[in-house]
Amino acid sequence: MANYFIAPSILSANFAKLGEEITNVIDSGADIIHFDVMDNHYVPNLTIGPLVCEAIRPLTNSIIDVHLMVEPVDRIVPDFAKAGANIISFHPEASRHIDRTIGLIKEQGCKAGLVFNPATPLHYLDHVLDKLDLVLIMSVNPGFGGQKFILEALNKLKVVRKRIDSSGKKILLEVDGGVKVDNIAEIARAGADTFVAGSAIYSAGEDRDPHHYDTVITALRKELAKV
Ligand code: DX5
Ligand code: ZN
Repeated sequence: MANYFIAPSILSANFAKLGEEITNVIDSGADIIHFDVMDNHYVPNLTIGPLVCEAIRPLTNSIIDVHLMVEPVDRIVPDFAKAGANIISFHPEASRHIDRTIGLIKEQGCKAGLVFNPATPLHYLDHVLDKLDLVLIMSVNPGFGGQKFILEALNKLKVVRKRIDSSGKKILLEVDGGVKVDNIAEIARAGADTFVAGSAIYSAGEDRDPHHYDTVITALRKELAKV
């Protein structure tokens, strides 16, 4: 079985007890904390910034995967690096100089990811793939949790999987949006190895019983074991 990573998106967590919500998913077997940053400009929603990243950093040694849905990108990158982010990903449309932004993220000691919206063409990978640590394929339009998986993302994942494999580089292929127990195996077959799941993990279970996180993450892994 390939090495798969489960990355709960804290966008769907209960923000009144965020620390606990993070500790609970990690204890339930999550590999990565996916941290969605929205600015009410690049996307029509507003979430959390570097102060929150700094506050949660001491709670876990796990990777904090910062998904920037902000424009412009460069100004905020050093703040997230200082706040303890391990991976910083951004959307090519939100940066005027994509190669420069990738360089900036790496200079700050973080791994760099490039994010593709459902309608964003993959040609942005043409001259920078070798410099990336992660490619993130959005399977919903960015801005909100709880949306339906857009099937075309599967075709995109297949194309990027081939490109990563022929590059010979170790680059994670992450998918974000609408990932559930009933579609994760198919998504893995298309080539993803890192799975963001927000509502599937955090919003499942009315009372948000922390043991429920265990159940969902185990179910996701069980599906992945079939691939
Ligand atoms: C959407 C965010 C996602 C979102 C995923 O813009 O980037 O990370 O939280 O949520 P679900 O898993 O509920 O689709
Ligand atoms: Zn995200």
